[in-house]
Amino acid sequence: MAHTATAIAHPNIAFIKYWGNRDHQARIPSNGSLSMNLAGLTTRTTVAFRPDLPADRLILHGNDIRGAALARVQAVLDRVRAQTGLNWHAEVRSENNFPTGAGIASSASAFAALAVAAAHAAGWQASTKDLSRLARLGSGSACRSVPAGFVEWLAGASDEDSYAISIAPPKHWALADCIAIVSSAHKAVGSTQGHRLAETSPLQQARVADAPRRLRLCREAVLQRDFAAFAEVVEADCHIMHAVMQTSRPPLIYWEPATLAVMHAVRRWRGEGLPVAYTIDAGPNVHVLCPQKHAAAVRSRLEALEGVQRVLAATPGGATRVIGK
Ligand code: PMV
Repeated sequence: MAHTATAIAHPNIAFIKYWGNRDHQARIPSNGSLSMNLAGLTTRTTVAFRPDLPADRLILHGNDIRGAALARVQAVLDRVRAQTGLNWHAEVRSENNFPTGAGIASSASAFAALAVAAAHAAGWQASTKDLSRLARLGSGSACRSVPAGFVEWLAGASDEDSYAISIAPPKHWALADCIAIVSSAHKAVGSTQGHRLAETSPLQQARVADAPRRLRLCREAVLQRDFAAFAEVVEADCHIMHAVMQTSRPPLIYWEPATLAVMHAVRRWRGEGLPVAYTIDAGPNVHVLCPQKHAAAVRSRLEALEGVQRVLAATPGGATRVIGK
């Protein structure tokens, strides 16, 4: 006998970033953030709770994973067991349809899919809010992959009130994210460690203090589909997060020469009248955002830039959902 469920989830790209925690253990962020789910990029995860398993198992693309990654998965499984009273161990099998090692953060879709599959497998009729809170325990940004489309993470102050909500469905705005891959190397400092370093930067306080204003401007720009206002606040928020990263002790410098080359090119294209903007997470790759009708042109321009290895394209994605056993 087994309690089994499979869920699929999309990663998300933050327009207003999460960087730094009020509570590292529970991943309560220092500021609210806003993102878009990325359809086209998908994680598929099956969770099977079984009475005969001696321990939890994590199998990624067929490989048995232990250590810190398994411990993060167990934090989510433990919460599900505590909630439901089910005391069996689980086998978790997960796969991404996007190239792993392409430098695209997969923890958001991984923990969103895990949370939804595990809760469903254990028979917990959890609300979207509860599933978002559950995903947050594995990776902060994962809470934003649970609801659909354009999503805001309400920072909150405790486990109960820190979760994400959809502010608009995927169809609301035909945006595209053309992801310029400039390096496939695994990042030296991951975001869990990075969130702890944020508070060592003298700029973090200023970043957090001004975050509600940027969040409001971005929310309004998204709701009104105002690309010019959107471009301005998204790039400003990206710059201020990287300013914090670059002034932490030790400094985190995620950009490569090709990262900067793409940034300059995007600004030049916008100056020429093309509606386009960039944002960058904790890595060197550049997410280039534009209305979908310009995506083909943006994509071929990016592919022609020196240092761009490939371009992945995504559009607004739906919620994390159960697809069966
Ligand atoms: O969820 P984490 O711990 O992987 O942190 C995500 C951090 C950024 O991607 C840099 C910003 C964000 O809001 O997604």
